[in-house]
Amino acid sequence: MGETTGGRAVGDRSQDEASLVEWERHAAWWHREFTGGVDAEYAEQILPLLASHLPSSGRLLDVGCGDGQVARLGTDSGLESFGLDAVRAQLDAAALQRGACYLQARVSELPVATGSVDVVVACLVLEHVADLDLALAEASRVLRHGGRLLVVLNHPILQTPGSGWIDDQLVDPPEQYWRIGPYLPEATTVEEVDDGVEITFHHRPLHRYINAAAASGLWLEHLDEPAPPAAYLERYWAFPAADTVPRLALLRFRRLVGGRAP
Ligand SMILES: C[S@@+](CC[C@H](N)C(=O)[O-])C[C@H]1O[C@@H](n2cnc3c(N)ncnc32)[C@H](O)[C@@H]1O
Repeated sequence: MGETTGGRAVGDRSQDEASLVEWERHAAWWHREFTGGVDAEYAEQILPLLASHLPSSGRLLDVGCGDGQVARLGTDSGLESFGLDAVRAQLDAAALQRGACYLQARVSELPVATGSVDVVVACLVLEHVADLDLALAEASRVLRHGGRLLVVLNHPILQTPGSGWIDDQLVDPPEQYWRIGPYLPEATTVEEVDDGVEITFHHRPLHRYINAAAASGLWLEHLDEPAPPAAYLERYWAFPAADTVPRLALLRFRRLVGGRAP
């Protein structure tokens, strides 16, 4: 946690500066590769899964919204939807599309009234944010009593730094397995995710997410660990066990006041 001013915690903003510069520089790459229906994982899995957890009415806040594909999903699902992102180039892309309102803001400083939102979504965002505790505290603050926080993560247990498929033909019989890198230590890595595209990731074990959320009054009520979608399995056709290792986790939290259900 960072310092406190006037009773409100403020994270160390400088920790995210380099990461936000990367997102500014690579926004076009993100849109080209992952939005507008071109990415099978989003189209076949992430968006339908999120839709299945949305309430049927109310206000949705999509934090770290990118070009707003989740916010627009909210609108299509009957919600009044708002997208926030710290990166101008993401919001410029979002503004070109109808369906939601967008604003420039960091996940750790939401310009949104306390208790005013029914569902907050953070889709593949928190692993890029340095101050997890503050981001979750802010999500909790803006949620009404009983509101939901939906968090989609690269699976924190299985998608550790250094994880990946190993095809070991030197042992007899040959072995294929998913290697898990160091799980318990928190680690910040800059990964080259595509040619010339370097992005900062913060690895944290799963308990960090759940306990930080609980400390902010957010209680885990559901966890999804879906098998990779068909298009991904097709790409990894040489690894028959690929359908046994989830790439993603969706955590659904409930905002409880005083630990009581609404
Ligand atoms: C992997 S993209 C996901 C975009 C969107 N949630 C989606 O699923 O299509 C991560 C997004 O988080 C944004 N982001 C990263 N750090 C942020 C921060 N501290 N505050 C707000 N947005 C942030 C990036 O600009 C980028 O748009």
